[in-house]
Amino acid sequence: MPPSDRPRSRRSGSRVHGQNGKQAAHFPALGSQEKIRPGVIHMFATTAPGMAQLVKPMIDRLPGVRVTDVGFDGRSDLILFAVDRGYREVLWSVRTIEDLFVEVGRTLRSGSDKPHLIAGRIWRPERVERALSVWAAEQRHLAGTMTYRVIARVLQENSFLRTDLRKALAQSVSAERPKWRFADPAQIEIWISEYQADRLVAGLRLSDASMRQHDGREVERSGALRPTVAAAMVSLAGEANGILLDPCCGSGTILSEAAAVGWTDPQGGDIDPEAVEIASRNVPTSIIKQWDVRRLDLPDSAVSAVVSNLPFGQQFSIQGPVPTWFAEVLAEMARVTRPGGCLVLLAPEIPLNTVPAQLRIRSKDPLKLLGMRTRLWVFDRIGAGSAGSSGRVSAGRLRGDSVW
Ligand SMILES: C[S@@+](CC[C@H](N)C(=O)[O-])C[C@H]1O[C@@H](n2cnc3c(N)ncnc32)[C@H](O)[C@@H]1O
Repeated sequence: MPPSDRPRSRRSGSRVHGQNGKQAAHFPALGSQEKIRPGVIHMFATTAPGMAQLVKPMIDRLPGVRVTDVGFDGRSDLILFAVDRGYREVLWSVRTIEDLFVEVGRTLRSGSDKPHLIAGRIWRPERVERALSVWAAEQRHLAGTMTYRVIARVLQENSFLRTDLRKALAQSVSAERPKWRFADPAQIEIWISEYQADRLVAGLRLSDASMRQHDGREVERSGALRPTVAAAMVSLAGEANGILLDPCCGSGTILSEAAAVGWTDPQGGDIDPEAVEIASRNVPTSIIKQWDVRRLDLPDSAVSAVVSNLPFGQQFSIQGPVPTWFAEVLAEMARVTRPGGCLVLLAPEIPLNTVPAQLRIRSKDPLKLLGMRTRLWVFDRIGAGSAGSSGRVSAGRLRGDSVW
């Protein structure tokens, strides 16, 4: 690959399959004395906040990859892992990862620790050299003079400020690499994150925005879902098999992710005609209809999975009282989903008494999107036959407003 000033963008539309049954090993924080193991490189990935528990098993199942730790640095979840030589490539196709890094070092901090001491323990020439060789293989050839910048994230600022750590690490870098110049934007981004209380990891960023934006949307619409979160939702629906439906599809992010991982018939709709037009342009291979999710233009048991980001939050609202809306929507989703299928829904709360008998909750996980707390719900469609009108919740069941 010829040298270039632009970071290389690495994309793949394929779903990754790995080995099952591997346990995540506990991995102690690497100190300055930690030996470098030949043939193994340490890396980490960031995900949307709350997604680590979901993405960790996906990474752990990859051949040659072992998750060693997880955390949260105040902005993103982090997943740390060791990769055997020759197995790095597959990480680029994990669609739930926002950014990928090669690790430079890890260290612990104590209450009296100073930023320059932390920086000195993290930025050690032998480790830096190794990380840079991975960066060069993934990005571009290294020149004597490179531009760099440092990004620091800490969980608390009691003993020093985040900016002090950033400056200290920049000083360690410039002392060890005197020809490198600070710049923003820069060719090399060095990130240091406190990913658990008093545990820091630093790495060189290998990815650019295309990793989290995937192929991008041809037409943008406000309130669109992060593609990495849409990818996680689609993965929870299981193997591609039959129709995947997003009945509140907005700009079509979920449908586009479904198409990228092999769902040959993703279908959607929205109450807003503008959304229908935008989604039709973003996912031209999908059937997109204008409809109300409470009355879907589909036969009973027509789809294998319903995957949807429901209209809550600052941008969108539902029609009428919450319990009535959920009762009608869940009954309709249960009706169109075949037994054995599932529903994967993003919504802050789902009132317990609105869930029809044909749906059984499998999981509910907290997520934070655009600073808002929400939840990822998975329901299995159980029972034989269609939910039909018997799937609807009676007014009597709607008394009370308890939540899961
Ligand atoms: C959170 S947005 C979905 C965003 C989408 N995931 C994306 O990436 O663009 C929720 C969508 O539900 C739609 N909506 C609201 N009420 C609806 C209803 N009763 N039936 C169908 N769609 C509805 C809104 O127009 C909005 O596009």
